[in-house]
Amino acid sequence: MNRAGEGLPRPEQTRIMVVANQKGGVGKTTTTVNLAASLALHGARVLVIDLDPQGNASTALGVDHHSEVPSIYDVLVESMPLSDVVQPVPDVEGLFCAPATIDLAGAEIELVSLVARESRLQRALSAYEQPLDYVLIDCPPSLGLLTVNALVAGAEVLIPIQCEYYALEGLGQLLRNVDLVKGHLNTQLHVSTIILTMYDGRTRLASQVADEVRNHFSAEVLRTNIPRSVRISEAPSYGQTVLTYDPGSSGSLSYLEAAREIALRDPNVQQRHDESVQQLQQHQNSTMPEGTQ
Ligand SMILES: Nc1ncnc2c1ncn2[C@@H]1O[C@H](COP(=O)(O)OP(=O)(O)OP(=O)(O)O)[C@@H](O)[C@H]1O
Ligand SMILES: [Mg+2]
Repeated sequence: MNRAGEGLPRPEQTRIMVVANQKGGVGKTTTTVNLAASLALHGARVLVIDLDPQGNASTALGVDHHSEVPSIYDVLVESMPLSDVVQPVPDVEGLFCAPATIDLAGAEIELVSLVARESRLQRALSAYEQPLDYVLIDCPPSLGLLTVNALVAGAEVLIPIQCEYYALEGLGQLLRNVDLVKGHLNTQLHVSTIILTMYDGRTRLASQVADEVRNHFSAEVLRTNIPRSVRISEAPSYGQTVLTYDPGSSGSLSYLEAAREIALRDPNVQQRHDESVQQLQQHQNSTMPEGTQ
């Protein structure tokens, strides 16, 4: 599939986003692969790191991940360079994937006895020399060493929340872990983005959950909700994202729109914006006649 011509602003520095929620089945993998494809179609160079032994992101991207394939396990446990495992994603220009194989199931335990066990992914990423605009890391549904490695490697946490009962349950534990990693291992880390998934506008429950999430978090929640859509859930069985499987579907359009919001909310751009507003205010204050400030 070709890139959309419009092109969104590309970040000055690589944005590393950790897609995490220890609750299972909330749409982490679906969000990772479809946002990554959307950003690539908007013109960015994007790497997906599959950090879940289930290998769902690798499957959904149509990337080979049988047990012989060099994978993120080799990077984490055997210190293999990331560039030796990254594969281009068929059909989407600018999109790449570091696959997960079943070996990764043992990594959680094998990592325990290795030096710098929490920062092995961060080291591998900083040694990776290919230019990238975004790295999206798909975490497993747990808060073990694999997720900690992702939290140490990234600056932004992206939390998908399913619009269902108990949506916010367990979120406190994730937020505490983010704070712990921020305090001890990665001062840059923060929750930058929350995305509501499997949203069914016909039910009162979905809008109640959405309201509750927006009351707890405000600026972080994307305006675009991802609808519950059969096309989104069908796409992985064809080794495709919904962007290539059914480009005109509501699911595809909503992920493209969510990606646009994320690109336009570049934290560095926002910071520069804040700084220029501040400078403007200072300038105005200094040029105003005395007594009017
Ligand atoms: N917007 C959607 N509409 C319909 N089905 C969806 C949507 N998003 C995700 N699903 C389906 O819900 C299931 C769980 O999604 P997904 O695998 O992305 O969650 P996950 O958080 O990665 O799960 P795990 O915790 O097991 O890694 C999958 O079968 C997926 O196809
Ligand atoms: Mg998953």
